[in-house]
Amino acid sequence: MQADSAYQLVRLNNGICSVRSLADAETFHPVVGPVAEAEALYVNQLKLRERLKNHTGEFVIWDVGLGAAANSLTVLRATRDIECQIRLVSFDHTIEPLKFALQHANELGYFGGYENHLQKFICDQRVIFRDGAQSVNWGFHLGDFPTWLDTNNAGRAPAPPHAILFDAYSPARNPAMWTLPLFTNLFQQLDPQRPCAMPTYSRSTILRVTLLLAGFFVGVGHATGEKEETTIAANTLDLIAEPLDARWLARATRSDSAEPLREAVYSRAPLALVTADILRRHPQFQTGG
Ligand SMILES: C[S@@+](CC[C@H](N)C(=O)[O-])C[C@H]1O[C@@H](n2cnc3c(N)ncnc32)[C@H](O)[C@@H]1O
Repeated sequence: MQADSAYQLVRLNNGICSVRSLADAETFHPVVGPVAEAEALYVNQLKLRERLKNHTGEFVIWDVGLGAAANSLTVLRATRDIECQIRLVSFDHTIEPLKFALQHANELGYFGGYENHLQKFICDQRVIFRDGAQSVNWGFHLGDFPTWLDTNNAGRAPAPPHAILFDAYSPARNPAMWTLPLFTNLFQQLDPQRPCAMPTYSRSTILRVTLLLAGFFVGVGHATGEKEETTIAANTLDLIAEPLDARWLARATRSDSAEPLREAVYSRAPLALVTADILRRHPQFQTGG
């Protein structure tokens, strides 16, 4: 299908269009399409409607990997009838996929009604609007996310999130976004008093080990149509329906790819003995979870 600079529209087998990065050789939502994936992985799994209905004050969502804004727009559209205040904080090191997608809004189909807001967002890196019962304050941090987390100093940080949409390219293509230092820094951004959950599409042992070592509780995530199982992490077990258990831990110790990436280079290795010991002491496995 049509190509513009670094991005291309691709038509999936079900007829839905998605964006593909030519430079990264990755399609953003490669099987069921942008909206169906975002609904299953984020809206439903995070129980966003329920959480928003019971929430008072601003509800903060971090959108890591803004890309073509399918995740963020699906979340906004799914909750627009709920009286709520959403602060959406998007991160990406480029705005180009969003510009490209907006030029192909008709084919992609998920921009309906948000086009003007997004034009302003692209120009100003912020847009504030009211839509239905919902008010939205949406800001953009342009730059390398791991570096931002490393250097982010108090005072300039956005409010800590209640939910994180984590959608980087795959670890093999984009290892810098899947390292233990990154998730450790991300966990430190959370407010321990503010329950926060973060689903992501991978179910790999290495990712789950990384999240546990970073401090998160980790559970089995919903199927998305693309994957029969995903992963959800949170700073409280209350937001995890099916926490990883001792059987998972035993399997992880036998896996040939479980040792976290310590730097931005993709590698596969079994758990080091010292890592396995740290995992066994994680509070998740002390509570019978
Ligand atoms: C799979 S795409 C995200 C798709 C997007 N969530 C959507 O709904 O359209 C991954 C995104 O991560 C961004 N990304 C990759 N490495 C990054 C980095 N080091 N810092 C910030 N963003 C990064 C890419 O530019 C890309 O837009």
